[in-house]
Amino acid sequence: SKHRIAVIAGDGIGTEVMPEGLRVLEAAATRFGIDLQFDHFDFSSCDYFEKHGQMLPDNWKDLIGGHEAIYFGAVGWPAKVPDHVSLWGSLLLFRREFDQYINLRPARLMPGVVAPVVRRDGSPRQPGEIDMVIVRENTEGEYSSIGGRMYAGTPREIVMQETVMSRHGVDRVLRYAFEVARSRPKKHLTSATKSNGIAITMPYWDERVAEMAKEYPDVTVDKFHIDILTAHFVQRPDFFDVVVGSNLFGDILSDLGPACTGTIGIAPSANLNPDRTQPSLFEPVHGSAPDIAGKGVANPIGQIWCGAMMLDFLGHREAHDAVLRAIEATLEPNSGAPRTADLGGRAGTADVGRAIASLL
Ligand code: NAI
Ligand code: MG
Repeated sequence: SKHRIAVIAGDGIGTEVMPEGLRVLEAAATRFGIDLQFDHFDFSSCDYFEKHGQMLPDNWKDLIGGHEAIYFGAVGWPAKVPDHVSLWGSLLLFRREFDQYINLRPARLMPGVVAPVVRRDGSPRQPGEIDMVIVRENTEGEYSSIGGRMYAGTPREIVMQETVMSRHGVDRVLRYAFEVARSRPKKHLTSATKSNGIAITMPYWDERVAEMAKEYPDVTVDKFHIDILTAHFVQRPDFFDVVVGSNLFGDILSDLGPACTGTIGIAPSANLNPDRTQPSLFEPVHGSAPDIAGKGVANPIGQIWCGAMMLDFLGHREAHDAVLRAIEATLEPNSGAPRTADLGGRAGTADVGRAIASLL
């Protein structure tokens, strides 16, 4: 059956890495007989904002809400539009309005990439030693809009912001994380908590983890307070498999995890609505990179990898695996394959995209 995908390249290097992502998706679709239909949209970019005074057309939900997935580049161009306007006016609306309650980020050390975190004896980490998936709650928790400021500007000023955890919201992200853990060889789930300090919501989170663990006797479960957990990410990233966190803790970990594995240019991410009632969104972790935009030197691997995650989500696991193998083969130090400047090479964006597509 046909998969309808909304393509939004956005700003800066988003417009340069997107064609390479599509090139690889098309190669994978041909090889595995997958029917992909791409519909391109020019909104959610700062150029669109300059023309129309807003990031999205009024009927944006009608235009993209019926698609199975959104394949997204990057949005933001601070010299034209302030970031809070461009991001809140587009990407963050998609996440919220399409109820993309899972933010998923693999953090995996790839061949040919030097990890900035080393072993205790100072030797470098090897591919395979870091291979984790961070599952972040993406709709509630600490990022609520309940709160306010009283006596503003006076010495009595008081500022409050509530954390909201619903049983529905907590359970659905935990269930997703347990399922991911169950599907992986190590079957190990780590929960991020802080129930020693945040003494109401975090004990509730822990309680729900313990409750759901009963349904997954095959999954090994542990929990760490967020402060020591960040230290463990750096000192023994090989310990982790699947890590689940609330909106705030997951936000922190989902930047730290990929940072431990090297270049930002290859890290992918997905914002999922696993119920599939509305589209899920697949995007590289990086932004629009104004400092290198327009030169054709951006690394397209983040865009290509999140395309693979999209194939997996659409039910084509074997196509996902094939794209990942092609990425790995290209990154292999002795492969002779083109590399972009962030990986110490001199190749252009399209060279890397073509190399990966040709392996498929
Ligand atoms: P950035 O991720 O765009 O760039 C950070 C640094 O990493 C830059 O030095 C850049 O050259 C480098 N870099 C990023 N992607 C690369 C790639 N594919 N290949 C090689 N090098 C790469 O983050 P920055 O500069 O903080 O933000 C720029 C704009 O992007 C801002 O408007 C920001 O709000 C937006 N942004 C958008 C995101 C999104 O669309 N999800 C995520 C992060 C930032
Ligand atoms: Mg973040």
